[in-house]
Amino acid sequence: LTPKDLGGLRLLVSAGPTREYLDPVRFLSNPSSGRMGYAVAEAARDRGAEVVLVSGPTALPDPWGVEVVRVESALEMRQAILERYAWADAVVMAAAVADYRPAEVLKEKEPKVEAERLLRLVPNPDILKELGERKGQKVLVGFAMETGEGLERARGKLLRKNLDFIVLNWVNREGVGFASPENEVVLVFRDGRVEEVSRRPKRQVADRILDHVKALWAS
Ligand code: PMT
Repeated sequence: LTPKDLGGLRLLVSAGPTREYLDPVRFLSNPSSGRMGYAVAEAARDRGAEVVLVSGPTALPDPWGVEVVRVESALEMRQAILERYAWADAVVMAAAVADYRPAEVLKEKEPKVEAERLLRLVPNPDILKELGERKGQKVLVGFAMETGEGLERARGKLLRKNLDFIVLNWVNREGVGFASPENEVVLVFRDGRVEEVSRRPKRQVADRILDHVKALWAS
């Protein structure tokens, strides 16, 4: 039986990719399956937390006992998260938010539109950075998807976004990261501490993340 050690915690989780439409049929996106974020939402639910899951497009069914808000674009995800931020005690941002969106979304599918016009991009807002600017007593957890070793880049994101800790994972390692059932991560904390979590099912990675959320929430 799972202990209800997160009873009373209000947790906002994001998961999945975002889709940035160019026209009614084409979009820019990434291979996020949603599995990591859904694992966090389900683990927290089982440990007694009240959970809202803001999810980009995924093939996963809505988890029972969790309020699921489905969105497509980064701008929609931002709005859904900001609307629920005041409610939350903690936020775990596992979504792979597109950094850019098309400057213009064509209303019609135009077969001969020039690539330069179709692919003119503008930056999306950094949702997590906005949350960090209004952190207060909330526990904020981000993910960092890196190539190479990535520890310094993850540390940079942790500080820039004003997070409690960041979960470093990798794009180019076989069998972990995007879409796989398992993950291998390093938790990077503000005081310089790091904790390596060896390869294991995403659900178990989620529980390790939640152990730290619990400790920070209680403090
Ligand atoms: O969904 P799965 O297939 O299970 O894969 C899981 C995952 C690999 C997608 C997940 O573990 C993960 O790493 N998610 C974050 C991917 C990412 O966008 O990383 P980043 O380093 O680009 O962003 C850093 C952090 O800022 C992330 O918490 C991200 O959610 C957030 N962010 C990024 C850009 C943006 N515009 N707004 C944000 O809030």
